[in-house]
Amino acid sequence: MGFNAEELKSKRVGVLMGGLSAEREVSLRTGSACAEALESKGYIVRRIDVQKDVAARLLEEGVEVAFIALHGRWGEDGCIQGLLESMFIPYTGSGVLASAAGMDKVFSKRVFVAHDIQTPACAVFENLEAFQAAPRLPFELPAVVKPSGEGSSVGVKIVKDAASLREAVAEASRLKGAILIERYVKGREIQVAVLDDEALGAIEILPANEFYDYAAKYQANTTRYLFPAPIPAAQEATACATALAAHRALGCGGATRSDLILDADGRCWLLEVNTLPGMTSASLLPKIAAGKGIDFPSLCERLLLGASLKG
Ligand SMILES: Nc1ncnc2c1ncn2[C@@H]1O[C@H](COP(=O)(O)OP(=O)(O)O)[C@@H](O)[C@H]1O
Ligand SMILES: [Mg+2]
Repeated sequence: MGFNAEELKSKRVGVLMGGLSAEREVSLRTGSACAEALESKGYIVRRIDVQKDVAARLLEEGVEVAFIALHGRWGEDGCIQGLLESMFIPYTGSGVLASAAGMDKVFSKRVFVAHDIQTPACAVFENLEAFQAAPRLPFELPAVVKPSGEGSSVGVKIVKDAASLREAVAEASRLKGAILIERYVKGREIQVAVLDDEALGAIEILPANEFYDYAAKYQANTTRYLFPAPIPAAQEATACATALAAHRALGCGGATRSDLILDADGRCWLLEVNTLPGMTSASLLPKIAAGKGIDFPSLCERLLLGASLKG
């Protein structure tokens, strides 16, 4: 599987970025950073802003290998991966099934549970009416309400009483996917990067707000990151093992970044696996990789060398 660097340097690499999802702007930043990094390593790069005519653009530009720098729907959820499989263009990262599974929080949670990976207890409601018909939870408040099919904390709310629970469920029901309500786990926010089936390390996030919401991710400069996460070695090992188990359970490839909460008893709770983590120079995966001695251009090259058809 994969290529060697010499072979790839004669091929046209398409960096797929932008796209039609709500995370377009972040993807454009990821894509530009990766395209520049690959050029600095001597690759022939074509920047592809993904729109509905993406198949025609790939043919026009003669793209032979695809580096996926998309986020959110149509990019992270298996759609573009399926198109590339059908066009026989090898691509970076996870395949169709793992991408689709990772994007759906309810589906991926079922996979984690089947693999005995510790994840907060939850209730799932297909829609608002299902919740209104039986608004009971198998755990006490506070809880976290999330739409199953969004990312970047869109629609995620921490609720402490019944009235705000109802309001958050109504809001989540207007977004993509079923409504997931999770037990709120109080603890430290940790993220672990996995690259080529190896956990690279853990970073701690200290958001200034109540939780790591959209503003903290992309707008505020107030969020602080601690790398390596200042946690006991045994807890770091558990966090890394959990992220690696989750990456494998979904059948992911390339790089993933898992979100976890470490509680006061040192237990580690998996929230989700991101199959296309942000790759701007300020993003967390590159920060973790740098701590392992992998600089940003080398990280991009590693991902590119792992490109393949996975179908
Ligand atoms: N069960 C939970 N307990 C405590 N905080 C949570 C929980 N679920 C989510 N959060 C907070 O919400 C953020 C976003 O949730 P996450 O499941 O990672 O979805 P997203 O795809 O939107 O990033 C997390 O980074 C964390 O700060
Ligand atoms: Mg997250």
